[in-house]
Amino acid sequence: MNASPHKLAVEDLTVTFGHGRRAREVLHGVSTGVRAGQTLGLVGESGSGKSTIAKAIVGIHPVRAGRITLDGEDLTGLKGRELVAVRRRVQLVSQDPYASLNPRMTIGEAIAEAVDPVRADARKHAVTVERWLETVALDGSAAVKYPHEFSGGQRQRIAVARALAVEPEVVIADEITSALDASVQAEVLNLLEELRRSLSLTMVFISHDLAVVRHVSDEVAVLRHGELVEQGPVRDVYRAPQHPYTRGLLASVPTFDEKETAA
Ligand SMILES: Nc1ncnc2c1ncn2[C@@H]1O[C@H](COP(=O)(O)OP(=O)(O)O)[C@@H](O)[C@H]1O
Ligand SMILES: [Mg+2]
Repeated sequence: MNASPHKLAVEDLTVTFGHGRRAREVLHGVSTGVRAGQTLGLVGESGSGKSTIAKAIVGIHPVRAGRITLDGEDLTGLKGRELVAVRRRVQLVSQDPYASLNPRMTIGEAIAEAVDPVRADARKHAVTVERWLETVALDGSAAVKYPHEFSGGQRQRIAVARALAVEPEVVIADEITSALDASVQAEVLNLLEELRRSLSLTMVFISHDLAVVRHVSDEVAVLRHGELVEQGPVRDVYRAPQHPYTRGLLASVPTFDEKETAA
């Protein structure tokens, strides 16, 4: 059924903001994808359209043209219940965990809602909630607390738990460690990597940090001004970038000087 090698793909994805004469196209026909069980790193400068791709995939931004496919099935044509069901299979975790965590909901309620949107009852789902909290290395007592009672790193782990509680097949992580201190960053990244392996997740890892992307990704896609300039296995792209823009990006990362890339 699925002729594409990709678990999740976008084909000629075009997104515009605004209407009429004020309309501005920010994605100009982007095609990319991630293979099942792999991680695609999506890089590019701030404003290049990385988050827009993520939000278009999960339906936050409308798609002007192009297709979004999951196991070869076009999501852009789906409606109603079918769409809701497919959407659960792809979860977005973003930079600001407040965006996915309602400040007035306890963590237990938030995770219960992810598990069971129809009967979002923290007590009914207490066992599942506790299991997910433990999975992201948080105490079960976290369930009765509110988002503001946690540190940034903890909140990001809660957002990961909430996304995973839906039992998705694909997770899109959009700059999820960018606001965190270096030590906490490593902690969240290691956790994510562990979970990705144990749950056989497919992942899109969005970051402007090329060192982190190299560390977690199988392939990397480079976005510039709403266009994809290059995609390939991390090893190849980091060692021998084909596009001048990618070369420029890599040159500005201090750890990727000649010595290391030539090694
Ligand atoms: N909701 C929106 N309304 C209007 N313009 C937007 C919106 N979201 C993003 N943009 C614009 O789209 C472009 C791409 O933004 P974004 O996808 O957030 O980039 P990145 O995540 O790579 O930093 C930017 O020029 C940004 O200003
Ligand atoms: Mg962004």
